[in-house]
Amino acid sequence: MNTTEDILKERIKELSCLYDISSIIVNADVGQMQETLKAIALSLKKGFQFPEHTEISIDTLIDSYKTGSVNEPLYISSKIQVFNKPNGEIIASLQDDKSSFLKEEQQLLDSVALKIGNLLERIEIQQNETSLKRQMERADRLSILGEITAGIAHELNTPLANILGFAELLKDDFKTDKIVSADLDKIIDNAIFSREVVKKLMFFALEMPQEMKLINLVPRIKNALALLDASFKKAGVTYHVKIEEDELWLKADNIQLTQIIFNLVINAIYFSPENGLVTIEAFQSKNYIVLKIIDEGPGLTKEALEKVFQPFFTTKPTGDGSGLGLSVVHGIVASHKGTIVVENNSKNGATFTVKLPKS
Ligand SMILES: Nc1ncnc2c1ncn2[C@@H]1O[C@H](COP(=O)(O)OP(=O)(O)O)[C@@H](O)[C@H]1O
Ligand SMILES: [Mg+2]
Repeated sequence: MNTTEDILKERIKELSCLYDISSIIVNADVGQMQETLKAIALSLKKGFQFPEHTEISIDTLIDSYKTGSVNEPLYISSKIQVFNKPNGEIIASLQDDKSSFLKEEQQLLDSVALKIGNLLERIEIQQNETSLKRQMERADRLSILGEITAGIAHELNTPLANILGFAELLKDDFKTDKIVSADLDKIIDNAIFSREVVKKLMFFALEMPQEMKLINLVPRIKNALALLDASFKKAGVTYHVKIEEDELWLKADNIQLTQIIFNLVINAIYFSPENGLVTIEAFQSKNYIVLKIIDEGPGLTKEALEKVFQPFFTTKPTGDGSGLGLSVVHGIVASHKGTIVVENNSKNGATFTVKLPKS
């Protein structure tokens, strides 16, 4: 191979190969990375001087594809980078040791590696945008729900106070009548229950007054766990406190902080299997205090992961849960300018992570 015509033929082959690969990348279906890599590898193979003796291997962090075995001693390679970080490589190997690679073939490989890197960058940007959009939509929904809930809670407060007040007046009038008294007790109990629900709703909607003070989280956790000891025993669940420091100071409302711990731990107990372990972890970073509640329960379904923080979302049987616990926690955390996220553990169970600013 040395005539001008041969060299020209090679160049044309390489250029049409690059053109093919460009169109594959432009039309790439993000969800079908392996198909895309396969198409690229097969086109690339055709661009080489000895296609039938050349095997291509493309390896990326998302997926990989090989046209054949690439263990041959004779090979060239090019690294794939995504946002300046190594992400994989392309290797072309020759099975026939009498021939060798052309300088242009290394250049071809480099161009294709660059193109694949660009495609992977595009995918990453797209994925970040979708997840950001979803997060924003969720935050929006929660704040609208918060406003609606605040409205409902306000409207219900007065009539509930009236029901309670008048029922108590009647009870005075019917002290001697056992049956009427018992009925009135039921009315009063139910009104008190409803008032508690309204209170929780107001917490969610941040309508409760806050008193921000410097608090050490460590004793708050220990106190809460002492109070929940009976619940742990009853459920046959144990707990482990993983805190390395004696003091973790942050500015927060004492009652609300306790409410965060309580709600998360009560959920963890409820969803724990018999003999399950609940881990309560806390540590600090430069500006934040981080609290993690980890359980060994069933974890959350995809739907639950999306909706846990919405008021009234519950998977518990009717009567067992109001679906308000986590929406209250979300409201409190938001009012402290913190964040709360939930994720499933790799093995089993869920982890709730609360991040609160120290000041
Ligand atoms: N630790 C957990 N493991 C699995 N699912 C959970 C956990 N904590 C909360 N959930 C899910 O979130 C839902 C809402 O929780 P929450 O707001 O506390 O309300 P409730 O406890 O009344 O159901 C639960 O019904 C459950 O589906
Ligand atoms: Mg709950």
